Amino acid sequence: MSDSLKKQPLYIMMLSLHGLIRGHDLELGRDADTGGQITYVIELAQALGRSPDIDRVDLVTRLVEDPSISKDYAQPEESLGSKGRIIRLPFGPRRYLQKELFWSHLDLMVDKCLNWMREQDRLPDLIHSHYADAGYVGLQLSKLLGIPLAHTGHSLGRCKKARLMAAGRKEQALDKQFNFPKRIEAEEAVLAGASILVTSTRQEANDQYGLYDNFRPKIAAVIPPGIDLSRFSPPPRAFTAHHVQAMVDRFLQDHEKPIILTICRPDARKNLHRLITAYGTSKQLQDMSNLVIIAGNRDNVLKMGEDEQAVLSNLLFSIDEHDLYGRVAIPKHHTNDDIPELYRLAAKRRGVFVNPALTEPFGLTLIEAAASGLPIIATEDGGPTDIIANCQNGLLVNPMDPDDIARTLLMALSNRAQWKKWSKNGINGVKRHYSWDAHVKKYLKQLYHTLRRERKQIRRNSLLFQHQGESAPPFNQHVLVSDIDNTLLGDRKSLSSLVEWIRQQSRAMAFGIATGRSLDSALQTLKEWKVPTPDLLITSVGSEIHYGNTLQPDLSWNHHIRFKWRRCAIEEALQGLSGLRPQPEANQREFKLSYYMNHNEPGLIEEIKKILKNLNLHANLIHSHGEFLDILPVRASKGQAIRYLAYKWGLPLQNFLVSGDSGNDTEMLIGDTLGIVVGNYSPELHRLKGQTQIYFARHHYAAGILEGLAHYGFIDTDKYPSLLEYTHD
Ligand code: GLC
Ligand code: MG
Repeated sequence: MSDSLKKQPLYIMMLSLHGLIRGHDLELGRDADTGGQITYVIELAQALGRSPDIDRVDLVTRLVEDPSISKDYAQPEESLGSKGRIIRLPFGPRRYLQKELFWSHLDLMVDKCLNWMREQDRLPDLIHSHYADAGYVGLQLSKLLGIPLAHTGHSLGRCKKARLMAAGRKEQALDKQFNFPKRIEAEEAVLAGASILVTSTRQEANDQYGLYDNFRPKIAAVIPPGIDLSRFSPPPRAFTAHHVQAMVDRFLQDHEKPIILTICRPDARKNLHRLITAYGTSKQLQDMSNLVIIAGNRDNVLKMGEDEQAVLSNLLFSIDEHDLYGRVAIPKHHTNDDIPELYRLAAKRRGVFVNPALTEPFGLTLIEAAASGLPIIATEDGGPTDIIANCQNGLLVNPMDPDDIARTLLMALSNRAQWKKWSKNGINGVKRHYSWDAHVKKYLKQLYHTLRRERKQIRRNSLLFQHQGESAPPFNQHVLVSDIDNTLLGDRKSLSSLVEWIRQQSRAMAFGIATGRSLDSALQTLKEWKVPTPDLLITSVGSEIHYGNTLQPDLSWNHHIRFKWRRCAIEEALQGLSGLRPQPEANQREFKLSYYMNHNEPGLIEEIKKILKNLNLHANLIHSHGEFLDILPVRASKGQAIRYLAYKWGLPLQNFLVSGDSGNDTEMLIGDTLGIVVGNYSPELHRLKGQTQIYFARHHYAAGILEGLAHYGFIDTDKYPSLLEYTHD
């Protein structure tokens, strides 16, 4: 298996949804969503495409049609080299949206991707999601299609929220502005379901992901991103950079002294004032070096934003306080092209690069400096620990201690042999550890390892969508899939109108049910209510699928949902838990464990999740009407059953009209299906109000279904005037 795996070139589907993504002229910094992640995914996609082990990379993102942004982002497809493409799929409104507003549209994206994937000649070997929004989509696709998921967080909700709260912001306001509960819930789910977690540093893995309940160190792979090595290289022998030289030297008395260089945004976290204190209090350091600070561009400090103004005025005052004129350069302006030259100038003058930040998540500038042959002195908090461990090209400092900073700088500048060694180590270390090709090498190693580990699951998937014994598709165009209790059943008069209407649609609209009941119980009730046997029966909360009068079971669904299901172990783990009582034997099925739940037991669901997690048991918990709790395999639910059917039988999800009244109907109502919520719905569905393609009917029970069918234009009231009473628009 492992060998055959190695021989087959891989297809990777990347998902990165927010920001402005295109293959050229990235608009970095245009808004908060178009930053480092965009460069990362584009460069990663290109680097993956260069590997002989990979023959296809699709980077899937959102299609945006908005007059205020370039038409490039409205192109459904863009090439990224010979093996790569950017694929853009629309979801939600057409206009550009900031990522915090994505959440209510992501289920639509799942379904759009599913549709698109079915049209391709091949399924990906790996789905790789970037950031929580894509993680949410990737996880659903991974579950539905049985494809392993890799995830890169880029930034994490729990960390951002903690940081903002520490800065004095109110939790409630933050949750509203940033949608933290949704984001964190999605991140927890992704951590539980992903097979590979790519982090840039060890600290990110341990300290940041470590804040999550579902973090499993076993799946974390520390693979730092690459940098564009063509921009950053050591100074050639005959190096002259007149422009940056003039820019720096007009501040300095003695141009020959080594440069201590720092480059960062004027941000309090970067801790520049302690660097000045370190330099300003060490006469020795001042005698042997100059300090060059590149802290953004400025015209008039007094006209800058409050935070930047505070940082810069603090800096300028400290330079004055320690009387560092002639020794510190702090140029007002620089361009992006000056940056590589500045590193080279500092390297030429045998200087060092310093990053004294209070904390540094990754430390890109340190890698740029290293690639330029400049030894580094860096904060011991965060990513630099990894960089120095990998490259052996400098020293760490305690960012809170100016004496330590000064001492370390002195040490680094005093030993010439040491300096040379560090300079060389940095240049080589970056090539080995921080090029994109090095990244891809480590990435593929991890990926093959995962594919081997999960081969059973993958082999099972090849059976997944085979039609086993079922002859023709059980439905050809549209399907009405209705919940039974309190949706289809409840009002005899409108039910008989609905049944009559369904009978006459036999060609255009098939009829299905999706219920929490078992097959037998569903059939019996339908009989009592004089409903004919449906074409499609999704029973036991989506854990079983049968077709038509012969009640042919869908066996590949059973294979698919068996994944990670350990029924006995779950049953045993929850035995005797207070507030939980097993339902009668008839309700217990191979893929469904059902309980009554005491609603006076707050936090019960959380407790159950914790118990299962601690025993490494995986399950989908679904509660309805505040009293039922169904525990299913992770891949089973009414909603997943419908998506499986859409995929298997080749129907777009929009061809599924679904109706329901309670919690276990949620997943089939959201997304690209056409949803109908009957007027007598239970409160847990209230949160779906206002979502696209979910119609809240005024009428109750079957009358509500008829009202919904009319709303979506399926009922021609000229032909069925008796149904006029159910329309309402
Ligand atoms: C039906 C099933 C029960 C389940 C409930 C909610 O009543 O019989 O087992 O818990 O639906 O899904
Ligand atoms: Mg119901």
